[in-house]
Amino acid sequence: MSSPDVLEKLVSLCKRRGFIFQSSEIYGGTGSVWDYGPLGVELKKNIKDRWWNALVRMRDDIEGLDAAILMHPKVWEASGHVAGFTDPLVDCRNCKKRFRADDAKIKGTPGTPDGQCPACGTKGTLSEPRLFNLMFKTFMGPVEDSAAVVYLRPETAQGIYVNFLNVQGSTRQKVPFGIAQIGKAFRNEITPGNFIFRTREFEQMEMQFFVDPEADHMHWFEYWKAERMQWHRSLGLDEARLQYHAHSKEELAHYARVAFDIQFDFGGTLGFQEIEGVHHRGDFDLGRHQEFSGKKLEYIDQVSNRRYLPFVIETSVGADRTTLAALVNAYREESVPGETEGRTVLALHPSLAPVKAGVFPLVKKDGMPEFATKLAGELRARFPVFYDESGAIGRRYRRQDEVGTPYCITIDGQTTQDSTVTIRDRDTLQQERVAADRVGEWIAQRLAT
Ligand code: GAP
Repeated sequence: MSSPDVLEKLVSLCKRRGFIFQSSEIYGGTGSVWDYGPLGVELKKNIKDRWWNALVRMRDDIEGLDAAILMHPKVWEASGHVAGFTDPLVDCRNCKKRFRADDAKIKGTPGTPDGQCPACGTKGTLSEPRLFNLMFKTFMGPVEDSAAVVYLRPETAQGIYVNFLNVQGSTRQKVPFGIAQIGKAFRNEITPGNFIFRTREFEQMEMQFFVDPEADHMHWFEYWKAERMQWHRSLGLDEARLQYHAHSKEELAHYARVAFDIQFDFGGTLGFQEIEGVHHRGDFDLGRHQEFSGKKLEYIDQVSNRRYLPFVIETSVGADRTTLAALVNAYREESVPGETEGRTVLALHPSLAPVKAGVFPLVKKDGMPEFATKLAGELRARFPVFYDESGAIGRRYRRQDEVGTPYCITIDGQTTQDSTVTIRDRDTLQQERVAADRVGEWIAQRLAT
């Protein structure tokens, strides 16, 4: 479904059902910062777990890392972020609002008498474009002077580069190998918005793969481009909604030699947008850190006895943006055969669903609640389960459909005679009778795909 208002519907569903809330809502909210509620935190964690499993746990050539958010300020000089991580902005002297200089709503030329403010409509009050750094600054220690300035990291990648030799030496990995990490990043975005699409605090899942510059490094670039697209498909994202976008020379970030985005079609006014970047960073980062720190960061190839700075192929995906893609991809409103009321369903991949099974006694008597409570308790040891005995059974199914629960188990009159239950599939609406002591295995098999 790609109707223009799907984001609006998702914002409302996410709040109502406890996926995502606006940060500090009781104070009027914080601009473009969001909090994950009980179901949202499970959904995002499932996405992060799938990434970590695919990149770190299932491979022996990638190591995990969790570097700190606060780093030595020189890191950001070396990385080019102090000088180059900027957007050109214009200010209106009349209404004090700020805009990106390339904002299509600005009429005329900023800094001249015909430049017109898109907010208050006054002419001649827009300043000339000035570069605005997107990094958040704070102070380390008790003194708030320029010597104490530190930054909240705008990408997690630099924590990997400065630890390159620590990880390589301690694990004895040989090039080619990678280092992966999941962590928060912060950007003082000028035009944030579209729910959790562009926020000022977000999570990245980044992997830096170190390759021999004299080997076929473009082979690795192509390899990771394909691997990462396959990973997005494995989350159940519709193939037709995924595409590559090659960066033109003008689009390339200061560190990149070649770059491709993996884009997802969010529908409506957003359309296709980046969810992941695959970047060939050459030896830009290791080279700059070697220069700025004065410490050698070369890899020593024990076989050929060569010393060199490896090239880096980076894969960088947003956990929040992927969460939004999974929600948009899953959202459906549909009629149900034989019923007057339609349903809203989140057809999430079962492995991403925050709750894996709903457990319902058909009625609150004849031993059904006792049987259902016991079964729910047993299943809970393996995966998140929701027990519900309130309201008509159809209502209970609808409540689980709306949060993406793939399987609903009902304990009915037959259960008390032969210990079988029904399992209803969220997508096909088919019901299957299964022995109660086989339900855990039945669900586990389906979650493993
Ligand atoms: N280390 C490279 C890097 O950070 P990027 O293209 O700027 O590259 C990578 O960011 C990914 O991080 C994006 O594809 C997106 O998923 C996510 N991301 C970037 N800025 C974001 C923001 N303001 N809000 C949410 N996610 C963001």
